[in-house]
Amino acid sequence: MKKKTARWLRDAYFDFFKKRGHRIIPSVSLVPEGDASALFISAGMHPLVPYLMGEPHPLGKRLASVQECVRTQDIELVGDSFHHTWFEMLGNWSLGDYFKEKAIGWSYEFLTKVLQFSAKKIAVTCFAGDKSVPRDTASAKVWRQLGIPEERIFFLPRKDNWWGPVSQTGPCGPDSEMFIDTGKAKCSPGCRPGCGCGKYIEIWNNVFMEFEKRADGKFYPLKQKNVDTGMGVERTVRLLLGLEDDYLTPIWQPIIKTISELAQKPYKGDWRRPMRIIADHLRAAVFIIADGIVPGNKEQSYVLRRLIRRSVRQGESLGLSVGFSRQVGAAVIANRDNYAGEYPELDNLEVILSVLEDEEQRFRRTLQRGLRELEKAAQKLIDAKKTMMSGKEAFFLYETFGFPLELIAEELGKSHLKIDEKEFEEEKGKHQQISRRAAKGRFKSGLADNDSRSIAYHTATHLLQAALRQILGSHVHQMGSNITPERLRFDFAHPRPLTALEIKKAEELVNQQIEAGHNVERLVMPFNESRKMGALAFFRDRYPEKVSVYKIGDFSLEVCRGPHVKNTTELVKLGRLVIVKQESCGAGCRRIYARFEK
Ligand code: SER
Repeated sequence: MKKKTARWLRDAYFDFFKKRGHRIIPSVSLVPEGDASALFISAGMHPLVPYLMGEPHPLGKRLASVQECVRTQDIELVGDSFHHTWFEMLGNWSLGDYFKEKAIGWSYEFLTKVLQFSAKKIAVTCFAGDKSVPRDTASAKVWRQLGIPEERIFFLPRKDNWWGPVSQTGPCGPDSEMFIDTGKAKCSPGCRPGCGCGKYIEIWNNVFMEFEKRADGKFYPLKQKNVDTGMGVERTVRLLLGLEDDYLTPIWQPIIKTISELAQKPYKGDWRRPMRIIADHLRAAVFIIADGIVPGNKEQSYVLRRLIRRSVRQGESLGLSVGFSRQVGAAVIANRDNYAGEYPELDNLEVILSVLEDEEQRFRRTLQRGLRELEKAAQKLIDAKKTMMSGKEAFFLYETFGFPLELIAEELGKSHLKIDEKEFEEEKGKHQQISRRAAKGRFKSGLADNDSRSIAYHTATHLLQAALRQILGSHVHQMGSNITPERLRFDFAHPRPLTALEIKKAEELVNQQIEAGHNVERLVMPFNESRKMGALAFFRDRYPEKVSVYKIGDFSLEVCRGPHVKNTTELVKLGRLVIVKQESCGAGCRRIYARFEK
């Protein structure tokens, strides 16, 4: 029998869909380009948003990929057998081409013929319908025709059977999910796929993306009916191997073994949770660093810092000594052939490992300082003849030093002190609300909106890059881009701050080009040819063999997904593009904020 590895699964998936007219697209960088609406790519469809909304894709209407993803919303759940922060997702897409019948038929064929799951073990779910979108009887009909009996077709509400949008707005739709019945007993008479008891394991999701959620919260039909599917690699390999725990697959085992050896403890019982968290968090950290992020206090950098710090705390509970992050990180990289995708950015081994090492050391110093603070606070309470630390103070320690409540309780317990846990939870709740509100602000809008102002800023970003290259030199190239309907933010390689004169010149040049009324043309060509023509490309991304190149007069030529305005005069009505701020974004990197002002 062939070895059921992640690579085997990937190749089988690609072969199957290639034979059915799909072209393979490469995995993009974890950091979404030009999109401020999300911190990380969280699904295979994420980089395809413009195409799901109707932009033509250079490779046609049938695509497939294996995409690396990061999901941070479930970070607290990591530690069980199947939640992962970084994971790989296989997917196939129809961009306004085939729909339910073919998509479901192929999913069934792939599961039963290629992966050889017994048809008897497959259970499926379909959207039950609600006020705004009707019940998905069409999908259920296809399942029935394929032979899935009524008792294994479950109609579930929006909470379970609706996917997307990936941020606050964008393409979305009802989905039909496939589960493998593990044969375990039902947890209750109402036991069903998605109930979480472990009887049914989700293996694949077919989303029928025919709606767009707009900022008004309503759903509007899209120009085209799309299919977006997603199959988690880790989970599928685990099921193929008949294992009960993702971490027992070859995808994770070498990492777990390294942790187990360093800790001199077996991967068993209560040791499993901290080992899984360390393996998960450091694997995610390695891939995030490989995509150019360093630990810090904002956005992606903050997520990275949290991952490394949470892992260090778990490391302490296992008694791992200083430097373990580097060793586990090295195991993550050495294990690269066991991931489904190929990640050449992992060649940057030394940089990745030293970032991990530095952050671990920094955090261990903070922890020591925190423990001293905690001792002092305990002494103050004792001096004041108090027996309880206020929830507010405990929350401060929790926030500042990243101490979990158990750790604070344990330390205080040594002096027979307690924590006001109720007040602590209240404080935590308040804080969560604040961060949720802030996140909403962030997610309010972004390129995923396809909002017309965002599109305008996207085109302006191309003009700005071309202008900066004319004025500062051809060493200038994009290192990042982040667009909202209110402004553009552009990071580029340049060793020093821009002078007032350079800023003025750049503004003048961009506005001149806008007023010149250039058509924005989309050309489709092989990636290599686009490079030969001098088209700029974003260094972090990998590109499919054929790409879209956007040409703005003779002024700018860039490989890009779009969308863009049709003619630069469309920007005139927004005002003049003004550079409102510049700052550093690391060594050799400048960041510019610009907006249209009337
Ligand atoms: N976007 C859907 C998911 O992430 C299907 O790919 O599950």
